[in-house]
Amino acid sequence: MSGSGLEGVVVARTRLSQIDGEAGRLAYGGYSIEDLAEHATFEEVAHLLWHGELPGRAELDALRAQLADASALDDRVLALIRSAPAGARPMAILRTAVSALGMLDPDAEDTADGANLRKVVRLTAQLPVITAAIARTRDGRDPVAPRPDAGIATNFLRMLGADPDPDRARVVDVALILHAEHGMNASTFSARVTIATLADLYSAVTSAIGTLKGPLHGGANQRVMHMLEEIGEPENAEAWVHDALDRNEKIMGFGHRVYRTLDPRAPILRDLAHGLGGEDNSRWLRISDRVVEVMDAEMQKRGKKIYPNVDFFSASVYRTLGIPVDLFTNVFACARVVGWTAHAMEQLADNRLIRPRAEYVGPAQRTVEPIDQRP
Ligand code: COA
Repeated sequence: MSGSGLEGVVVARTRLSQIDGEAGRLAYGGYSIEDLAEHATFEEVAHLLWHGELPGRAELDALRAQLADASALDDRVLALIRSAPAGARPMAILRTAVSALGMLDPDAEDTADGANLRKVVRLTAQLPVITAAIARTRDGRDPVAPRPDAGIATNFLRMLGADPDPDRARVVDVALILHAEHGMNASTFSARVTIATLADLYSAVTSAIGTLKGPLHGGANQRVMHMLEEIGEPENAEAWVHDALDRNEKIMGFGHRVYRTLDPRAPILRDLAHGLGGEDNSRWLRISDRVVEVMDAEMQKRGKKIYPNVDFFSASVYRTLGIPVDLFTNVFACARVVGWTAHAMEQLADNRLIRPRAEYVGPAQRTVEPIDQRP
């Protein structure tokens, strides 16, 4: 068991998403990810995950109004963001700010259904606002307030000072949909473990943000961009990948605990990246495609089922949209907060403390020697 990473262990029953790792399929509440990416918005997906059904027009309008109402940035949270030292990681600031939101919310400990729904809306509204405020305040600029009549994707680009053209906002929207939920991934597991102790939703999301931060999980998308920058030109890709593999390094944006084939989110993101056009973008895509070819050949030779994952193409999409590279993992959090909170509510609806066991492999029983007689 030691070192197994709980691979294949079922720790919960969920109605939220279904992953077929062999066939490369993902569905939220029975709707394929391809269908949702084409026909839904992020807010509709949030409703689906929180309530089990896609919203009707009136329900969607109500949710959008609630999200708008919950999106004002508290001055105390802004002061905390501004107090971050130069060079602080945006995910560390986000984790700290979300923890502060919990301390400041008088409803934080209220676990009634209505209070929890208010808090999941609040968390989902706040993460993009905080992320954009991190980007602006570190450059000495003031935060931009979200527009109440615009959706999360459009507002996110506006608040960053990036181009909020509807086509680009739709790309953000689809990226958010694709990252919203993914079964019992590491950060969702953290959220469920935390909420299962009957701690509050803010604590669950703070735990999840800390877990998402790691390069083996959400941190991979930033590393993909650094890799593409380091490779520089498509013709350098082959040597770069071989060198990295020779050093036994993992290639970021490849491999997945569950998918043994192409992650179904990757081709959707690649198409989005294509649609964005632009010279730099096309260079990132040519490098990416070359990395995929080289990895394909190399992994086949080694008999390993390692394919691109969601982070591989999201990197060039975010970069082309003008999102700073060190904010990429925050964007992932802005989407996944919907999945975390949906799982937290699902856990609470049928809760039992999550408390597995460890197999003891240390020394046999011994007695304490007085300190001066110890070696
Ligand atoms: N590049 C090169 N080789 C890889 C690889 C990658 N990205 N991912 C896995 N492998 C290799 C491993 O070295 C291992 O080889 P071995 O059997 O010879 O030791 C084999 O494939 C199985 O990998 P393993 O590390 O056991 O898989 P895991 O299920 O524990 O890890 C990830 C899954 C995602 C953590 C892992 O693939 C990874 O680190 N990927 C890069 C980070 C990333 O993109 N994360 C985002 C995930 S959405």
